Amino acid sequence: MLKLNKLFQNIKTEIKKSQKKEELEKIRIKYLGKKGILTSYIKSLKNLSFEDKKKHSISINTIKKEIMININKQYEILNNILLNQRIEKEKIDISLPGRRVKNGSLHPITYTINYIKNFFSRIGFQSISSPEIEDEYHNFDALNIPKNHPARDSHDTFWFDKNRLLRTQTSSMQIRIMKKEKPPIRFIFPGKVYRNDYDHTHTPMFHQIEGLIIEKNINFSNLKWIIYSFLYDFFGNQISIQFRPSYFPFTTPSAEVDIINSRGKSLEVLGCGMVHPKILNNANINSNIYSACAFGLGIERITMLRYEISDIRYFFENDIKFLEQFKYN
Ligand code: DAH
Repeated sequence: MLKLNKLFQNIKTEIKKSQKKEELEKIRIKYLGKKGILTSYIKSLKNLSFEDKKKHSISINTIKKEIMININKQYEILNNILLNQRIEKEKIDISLPGRRVKNGSLHPITYTINYIKNFFSRIGFQSISSPEIEDEYHNFDALNIPKNHPARDSHDTFWFDKNRLLRTQTSSMQIRIMKKEKPPIRFIFPGKVYRNDYDHTHTPMFHQIEGLIIEKNINFSNLKWIIYSFLYDFFGNQISIQFRPSYFPFTTPSAEVDIINSRGKSLEVLGCGMVHPKILNNANINSNIYSACAFGLGIERITMLRYEISDIRYFFENDIKFLEQFKYN
């Protein structure tokens, strides 16, 4: 009995010392498992008298129970330690300020395109998108641009091969529309155009909006009214508008329009004119019955003028500091 009590004391300290659940399990197996020390004690009782056997087995079983109780207690202690360590590790400071999600906003070019679409839809124009990869016919030939015109030169045009190119102007869409739709026609086509140019007022890709009206009695004053109405709507009444006679192979007469802002700064923003009868006839529209006017507007240009942006390249550098300024438009 004495030996047993001593062993029990030792087991208890062993249990208390254990720091891991696995160690506890090992202790359990060592003493209480099938081949455990206490189990072997019970087996060794078989040679004793019935009375002794009974007496000893009762005390061994009591110790076994006690050991189990001790193991379970230690198990709980270890569990609590682990839990507290985890709580400590995963602690979050709810008093810290949260991370704010920054709201994005429309790019100023998108904003201008939407503005223009909105304006023209109010005066009966439909807006459609158009292909950026064009062929020589739609971009040049059908628009009456001569074979030897410098704009066809590789300096200005990005050619894919002898025939295909990145369109240099949204005017290419005029021909497609004329062939597809029957007059009266009143369309705008916004989109990207490409030219091999790069400085503070030119980028190799920029945006234009083309407008085309084909009706029975459309004339130059109608065109002027449309352009004045749009420009005053977009810039307010502070600006002056200047129509300058010009030349485009696909319009006659042709004009270019400059905007002069309140500080006297002037910038050319669009080209326009009455569509050349030859172009209408080429597209099987009878120029004796119908007349047409068209305009092509540089989106970056008017956005620069409106917000006094000095360099067109800002639009495409994706600098958040620049873009954020247009958040509240
Ligand atoms: N396509 C011309 C350009 O990119 C602009 C233009 C001029 C468009 C006259 C027109 C127009 O529709 O009638 O410079």
